[in-house]
Amino acid sequence: MSMIEDYQDLDSELLTRYKSLVKTKREKIFIAIKAKFIFYISVLYLLFRISKTFYFYFIGCKLSSSPCTIHRDVRYSKERPRNIMDIYQPLKTKSGGNPVVVFIHGGSWMYGVKTLHIKLGRSLASQGITTVLANYSLYPNFSGDQQVEEIGQILEYVSNHIESYGGDTRNITLMGHSAGGHLITQYLLTIYNKNTNIRERINIKNCIPMSAPLDMREQFIFQTQLGKEHTSMIVPYCGGVKGLNYKSPLYWISLEKDKSLELPSIYLIYGDQDNLVPPIVNSRFLHQLEKKCKEHIHLQALEYDDVAHVDLITDIEDQENNVCNSEPFNEHRGAITRRHKKFMLGDILRIILN
Ligand SMILES: *[C@@H]1O[C@H](CO)[C@@H](O)[C@H](O)[C@H]1NC(C)=O
Ligand SMILES: *[C@@H]1O[C@H](CO)[C@@H](O)[C@H](O)[C@H]1NC(C)=O
Ligand SMILES: *[C@@H]1O[C@H](CO)[C@@H](O)[C@H](O)[C@H]1NC(C)=O
Repeated sequence: MSMIEDYQDLDSELLTRYKSLVKTKREKIFIAIKAKFIFYISVLYLLFRISKTFYFYFIGCKLSSSPCTIHRDVRYSKERPRNIMDIYQPLKTKSGGNPVVVFIHGGSWMYGVKTLHIKLGRSLASQGITTVLANYSLYPNFSGDQQVEEIGQILEYVSNHIESYGGDTRNITLMGHSAGGHLITQYLLTIYNKNTNIRERINIKNCIPMSAPLDMREQFIFQTQLGKEHTSMIVPYCGGVKGLNYKSPLYWISLEKDKSLELPSIYLIYGDQDNLVPPIVNSRFLHQLEKKCKEHIHLQALEYDDVAHVDLITDIEDQENNVCNSEPFNEHRGAITRRHKKFMLGDILRIILN
């Protein structure tokens, strides 16, 4: 047993669970080497994927056959260098405006750029959706709270300006993958729900957290099981073990009085083989929400068979030219619906376009 003393400040429940799971020093060294190796392989894989779409981003989007125009590096706030975003505007604007998606990328709060998801921007825009892909300031130079604040700035900007890109401000869906899914949910529970004034100004119709770590306590325990709690940035990101609560959307739900949460429709999307965020967190989050959300708010989880953490988003992007929607899911409040992975993009479009 080693380094348990680092986490003596955990509350007793978490400390007991931690102690029963913690791995030896030697086991951890092997795990750390393996993790570095996997990390670099996945970075190479992602770079390879992006390189294939860069042509479209810089040149292809100007061709007559392109599904959209890309407005690059639109500044949503003057405050910080990374406060810029790309807007993928469909070629046609339908009367009343196109539905809008604001997408926040993942990358452990430390990595990632808006160009990671060029394919998603292009594919949503080709379905008539004005799509916003944003950069945001990264940890450790900026804190989690500052990141959540930037989600608000992005939405504020979109609400005020998206009409000039053909978007309909009454039809905004907020989406995020992994850390991005965490940030949007944290924003909804800590800022949006609490401020009627903001809710009146920014009208979010749907929120879709994808493979999102919505409970940092559980995330910490999961990292311990994997022998990675010291190499993971979960605890430093949360500002120490005491912060595991405050950085958890699940914790903020638990503080609410019964049925007081005023939120957009929420659709949790995740894979049953997620190897970075335990899938159980999603079902627990959904049940808590159901108890605390006003009855008119729609809540649902879609769990995809045989899908892991990063695959979820890359598979959705690969379905770009092959939307499969022969079997719509039932909209049922509180339901956790298992789905075949071929329906992922179709299901998401159904939510956005509804
Ligand atoms: C934002 O994202 C782009 C990629 O889209 C990246 O190259 C750039 O460094 C980021 N911009 C800023 C100002 O940080
Ligand atoms: C973080 O801040 C330091 C010091 O201000 C700067 O040199 C560095 O480039 C920043 N890193 C990122 C990723 O923005
Ligand atoms: C949003 O856009 C979709 C697709 O155009 C449309 O079917 C739906 O009625 C719109 N919803 C709202 C609230 O305007």
